Amino acid sequence: MLNKKFQIAVFGLGYIGLPTAALFAKNGFSVVGVDINPEIVEAINQGRSPILEPGLDELVKDVVSAGNLSATTDGLEAGKNSKVMVVIVPTPIDENNKSDLRAVKSACETISKTLKKDDLVIIESTIPPKTCENIIIPLLENSGLSASDDFGLVYTPERALPNNTLHEMTHNARVIGGINNKSVDQAASIYEKITNGKIIRVKDLITAEMVKLMENTYRDTNIALANELAIICENLGIDAIEAINAANHHPRVNIHTPGPGVGGHCLSIDPYFIVEMAERKGSKAELIKTARMINESMPLHVVKLVEDSLKDIRKPIDDSTIGILGIAYKGNVADTRETPAVPLINILKNRGATVKANDPYVPSTNIESLGAIPVNFQEALSCDCVILITDHELYKNITPDDIKNRVFICTRPILNPEDFRKKGVIFKGVGRF
Ligand SMILES: NC(=O)c1ccc[n+]([C@@H]2O[C@H](COP(=O)([O-])OP(=O)(O)OC[C@H]3O[C@@H](n4cnc5c(N)ncnc54)[C@H](O)[C@@H]3O)[C@@H](O)[C@H]2O)c1
Repeated sequence: MLNKKFQIAVFGLGYIGLPTAALFAKNGFSVVGVDINPEIVEAINQGRSPILEPGLDELVKDVVSAGNLSATTDGLEAGKNSKVMVVIVPTPIDENNKSDLRAVKSACETISKTLKKDDLVIIESTIPPKTCENIIIPLLENSGLSASDDFGLVYTPERALPNNTLHEMTHNARVIGGINNKSVDQAASIYEKITNGKIIRVKDLITAEMVKLMENTYRDTNIALANELAIICENLGIDAIEAINAANHHPRVNIHTPGPGVGGHCLSIDPYFIVEMAERKGSKAELIKTARMINESMPLHVVKLVEDSLKDIRKPIDDSTIGILGIAYKGNVADTRETPAVPLINILKNRGATVKANDPYVPSTNIESLGAIPVNFQEALSCDCVILITDHELYKNITPDDIKNRVFICTRPILNPEDFRKKGVIFKGVGRF
């Protein structure tokens, strides 16, 4: 069993890597964080979190000032002095929806150069099934050491939810699959120091890889079902939100919430990792692909709602200003990765609209780089048509009088359509009738 005296090196200090490193450090481990971005490294060494996440700034400040966490761009130096290396680097998809594993490969190449006998490598990045076997083990064995005999390896997926990351990391169950029992035991002895959640041991590396992908594919597919039901309900004159809420009282039903599309670094990407490997092995993964297609088409559906509403007031879209409320992919976060707001902005602009956007969490420069004109809340509300995309807390207080030009597309079920309609606002929403 490993004790707390050794150093852990965490490769990748982003949304998941930094809180993980900080929690290891808080629980008495000596932690060095490695990131290729010198600005991130500098901020952490100054005791600041570059990521907006409740509680993280204070935690980073505490563990850095206590000397338990430091950061560096020098992965070789960090690896040399560490017994455990944790990889939490990004794993996006490319333009063909295939996994881009360059960061994982690069981190593992660095680790292989300083890997020592009895070291443990922990992979947390989300990866397609068989990545440990086909890519990571051969890269680590470039060290001249043999996986299992000389060094340990586990895969343990992270499930923390942004905006509640620290709570989830310290309470969620932790799934661990490894190359051998010794690796799993060692990893379990580390993670049980930071989480009260159950440690769930699975048979091997590939099972653990698949667990993460199944979870997010379940959610993405369920959201696609909700979106499809919502569009059908709109056409049938049914309020889908009311119907879904009622259906979910069935003890074995949990239909998710329809919306403008699925964003973020997980749900909109991870199902493609299953598709990629399934197709390579001759399986079709048709339901998973269809779900992705439905969710990716939702911004187009929102544009249809906009056009229908503008038609009601005889305003051509190419002569309209559109005010988007919320660019982040979900409420109360600043994360815009894969946000459905971006395809929405692009379609609206292609149709000739002037697109303005407000987001209390996202800096104006980011809004601009995503294609919209950044404006304050009031200016967004004064556009010809207002589209609510993100369920930020602030937006839950919007009243009919706030919608200056009386056209409101509310893609999240956070406001009551009737409150707006009885005050003369044209109110449309995904699944709302
Ligand atoms: N964000 C989430 O909610 C979430 C949840 C569960 C799992 N994950 C998975 O965790 C992994 C990391 O995601 P994230 O959201 O933390 O990403 P992120 O983009 O926020 O952070 C990744 C960090 O890794 C750094 N990096 C890139 N290449 C590196 C290298 N070779 N060596 C060292 N650092 C490197 C980047 O500079 C960045 O700071 C991904 O595989 C993701 O799918 C993310």
